This record gives sequence, structure tokens and C-alpha cells, in this order.
Amino acid sequence: MQSIKTYQEDFLAFLEQFVVFGEPKNLYDPIKYILTLKGKRLRPVLTLMTCEVFDVSYKKALHAALAIEVFHNFSLVHDDIMDNAPLRRGKKTVHEKWDVNTGILSGDTMLILAYQLFEHYDGTMAQQLSKLFSKTALQVCEGQQHDVDYETIDTVSIPEYLNMINYKTAVLLGAAMQMGAIVAETSEENQIASYNFGCYLGLAFQLQDDYLDAFGNIETFGKQVGGDIIGNKKTYLYIKALEFSSGEDKNRLQHLFNTSPKNSDEKIQIVKRIFEDSGAAKATQNEILNYTNKAFMVLETMSISKEKKALLKTFGETLMKRNV
Ligand code: IPE
Ligand code: IPE
Ligand code: MG
Ligand code: MG
Ligand code: MG
Repeated sequence: MQSIKTYQEDFLAFLEQFVVFGEPKNLYDPIKYILTLKGKRLRPVLTLMTCEVFDVSYKKALHAALAIEVFHNFSLVHDDIMDNAPLRRGKKTVHEKWDVNTGILSGDTMLILAYQLFEHYDGTMAQQLSKLFSKTALQVCEGQQHDVDYETIDTVSIPEYLNMINYKTAVLLGAAMQMGAIVAETSEENQIASYNFGCYLGLAFQLQDDYLDAFGNIETFGKQVGGDIIGNKKTYLYIKALEFSSGEDKNRLQHLFNTSPKNSDEKIQIVKRIFEDSGAAKATQNEILNYTNKAFMVLETMSISKEKKALLKTFGETLMKRNV
């Protein structure tokens, strides 16, 4: 096994070779732009690490890791259009820097480029990878549609929220890990455990993303802070704040998420205060810990060495503590 840093660096070198595109510039420049902005690269690192956990060189998994990262970046470009987001990774979003049409077509192209990367694998392995990829990509779209639908309905339950984030975010982390396991040609049991570990980590990851969207710092987070509040997103923070608050705070919260207040800074301040006072912020942090621990419990069932478990655990712990 290598260090997490080595996986990241080697993946970036591989990505650099990939982002050499031809014409038309207005199609490919945005693709190069988003792919080379400073992302965390956690999904491809998970693919590479998982492959090595099962004793096969991570180099065999580089194309699958890249497919996952290119797909993820496609989803970000389209997500930013859907969420009306101005900032991504500390820079302008693609549709802000170019325009919406550019974001749509460059995004579509990235989805195709991602699929194309599986051509580097043969036979059953290629089939297994693209089957998992198609299933996962459809689930991401379903999750994204729920996310948008929930903006305009008043009540979303916790199970509905969890199902939504499982699809829009968690299954991709699961698939990233399972792909590493597929390339390593390990048992189905190991594949499933890898997938489940990734999904639990993914749930914790999206809960943390929601938390940071409200309470993070724009400098480190690299996205507009309060974007979910402006967009009336039914996050864990919101659902729990409604459950835990009463009287004036509850009415205010509901009212703010049903109207489009002119002063969005004021809306953000009030909502954040209610998130904290109601105990919803704390409950979200507990839930992040809860899902990270569920991931670690899956890890315990895997028949791999202590050192390998420790590396995967460190990765999970780092994710939980992130402010990026
Ligand atoms: C952002 O993913 C989208 C979510 C699922 C929350 P990341 O936080 O992994 O984004 P980058 O790739 O590091 O920019
Ligand atoms: C995005 O969820 C999930 C996908 C991109 C599929 P968010 O909308 O919360 O992601 P960010 O916060 O914009 O990165
Ligand atoms: Mg978004
Ligand atoms: Mg979104
Ligand atoms: Mg978010």
C-alpha cells in the first residue's frame, strides 16, 4: 500500500495526461478547467486504495478511478447550474465563467468521456465496471431530481432525506470502492463490503457537506456559504430544526423557506441561528459520526490486514474532520 498522498499525486499525474483535448475550444476548455481545479479527489483515491487493499497494483485501477472523477466533475457542472451556484473549488462555476449552454454540453461530453474510459478494460471486468457505473449514474440522477423536488415541498422526512443523499452522493463513493475491488478481481463478498463501506462514508460525507454549507468558511470550503439556505434545500439541518423548534422560531423557519426574502444574508443569519439554537447543528454532527462509525463496522468484517484497515480508517477520519 502507498500513502494517501501518493495515490493523490499519482492520480493527478494521470489526470494531467488525460486533459489534453483538441477543438472546439469552447467545448473542451471548460472540461479542462473544471477537471484541473483543486478538488479533493477522494473518489479516485478510494478506487486506487481499494484495488491495493486486495493486493493488486493501483495502476490497474487508474482508468476506472479517472472515469469516476470525470463523472463526478460532470455532475458538479450540471449540479451548479441546477443549484444556481456561483463558486466551485474557490473559482467561478463553469456556467458563470462561460454560460449555461456551455455547461450543459461540456457536462454531457464529460459523461461520455467517463464511459469511454472503461474501454481500457477487457471482457467480464469491462462489463462489470460499466454495469455498476450505469446503475450508479442513474441513481445519482434520481437523487438529484429528489433534491430539486424537495426545494418546493414543505415536509421531507428523515428517511426521504437519507434516501435522497444516498442516491445523489453516497452510491458514487460505494461504486468508486467497488470498482477498485472489481479491478482487483476479489470475491463478491469483498466487493459488497467495499461498496457498503463507501456508501456509509458517503452518507457521512454529504451530511458534512450540508453542515459546511451553512457553517463552513468560504475560503476553505470554496463554495458559496449559505447556498442551501438560499435554495430552500431540505437538509438534515433543516428537517431537524423544524422537528426540534417550536413557537416563533418554527414559524419563522417555515416562513423563510416558503418565501424568497430580498435580503438573503439576513435569511442565512436567522436560519443558522435557529439551526444552532434548536440543536439541529449538534444532531447533524452526531449523525456524521454515526455513519462514519457504521462504515468502520463494515471495515471490521473485511478479511484484510490490520494495516490496510488502518489506512482506510484514517481516510474516513480525515473526511469527517474536514473543513474543505
Ligand atoms: C462535492 O463533492 C459534491 C458532493 C457530493 C457534496 P466534493 O466535496 O468531493 O468535491 P471536490 O471534488 O472535492 O471539489
Ligand atoms: C451534489 O450535492 C451532489 C452531486 C453533485 C451529484 P450538493 O448540491 O450539495 O453539492 P455541492 O454542495 O454543490 O458540491
Ligand atoms: Mg450544489
Ligand atoms: Mg445540488
Ligand atoms: Mg452541498
